Amino acid sequence: MKGLRPRRGLAFAGCAFLAIALGGCVPLSTQPSPHSAPAADPARAAGRKTFDKWCGDCHGTPSGPGSLAIQRKYRGALPAVLEQRSDLRPEYVKLVVRHGISFMPSFRKTEISDADLALVAAYLAPSQ
Ligand code: HEC
Repeated sequence: MKGLRPRRGLAFAGCAFLAIALGGCVPLSTQPSPHSAPAADPARAAGRKTFDKWCGDCHGTPSGPGSLAIQRKYRGALPAVLEQRSDLRPEYVKLVVRHGISFMPSFRKTEISDADLALVAAYLAPSQ
């Protein structure tokens, strides 16, 4: 009898360790990180704020003049609203904003700084 006790104790300790390892670690690793939640992304929020201020009048709704021009340009092959596009590249957004296109005006660095423009470009092209 005496000889069994340490082994039973060891087996129990092993089970407890497994339970902690499986129960404590595996479910945690499948949880999404709170840092990846879009609503909590301050850079994205800042990009959106600049977009709303400088671009929203023309691009914020499907009936804005920018959206209508894009609708005409691509004949519906791409979404008219910029925020719904998944093909935009940050460099293209920056180029268009600094140089203008058609009746879209260009924006100077005193209006939209390079840092703010980078945030807008990242906001419109989040997967790039
Ligand atoms: C006065 C209205 C107006 C404002 C303000 C405006 N845009 Fe535009 N934007 C347009 C028009 C019109 C076009 C379409 C030009 C064309 O026919 O190619 C356009 C096109 C674009 C395109 C190119 C889309 C493509 O597929 O070629 C991008 C990117 C863009 N705008 C980004 C912005 C951003 C970012 C801002 C704010 C910093 C902004 N625009 C502000 C009117 C505007």
